[in-house]
Amino acid sequence: MVCLGNICRSPLAEGILKSKLATEGFHIESAGTSNYHEGELPDQRSIDVAAKHGLDITDQKSRPFSQDDFDKYDLIFVMDTSNYQDILKMARDENDEGKVELILNKIYPGENRDVPDPYHDSINGFENVYQMLDESCTVIAKELEN
Ligand code: 4NP
Repeated sequence: MVCLGNICRSPLAEGILKSKLATEGFHIESAGTSNYHEGELPDQRSIDVAAKHGLDITDQKSRPFSQDDFDKYDLIFVMDTSNYQDILKMARDENDEGKVELILNKIYPGENRDVPDPYHDSINGFENVYQMLDESCTVIAKELEN
């Protein structure tokens, strides 16, 4: 799960997808396209929205995406088109490129919609992001466990 800062959207996506996978054997992580918040906990508003829905995401620490992640992960979900472009620039070949997908395309196929960056928004923006990610992660979890 990848966003810009790895403190607002992708930590929520990581927590939500983990909570939806009933079987062991999946490794879910999140990262940022920047190192702006490296080592920091998720944003307090993401922590609060997650907690409201019964999820604890306080075990997470922000880290930047690295090229090694293309080797470690089969699927790379990005939150918006800017993240998509940044990650594609790091791809080494078509195999890497093929792993990258906009997360909202799971519920709006082919529409290339963005999960809005809630950083400068109120808690309502974080709840809105939570709901979008929850829907997408329901689809992702079903596909993974099929
Ligand atoms: P995120 O939100 O990409 O969902 O973690 C942001 C967090 C921090 C910044 C931008 C977006 N920032 O510019 O510091």
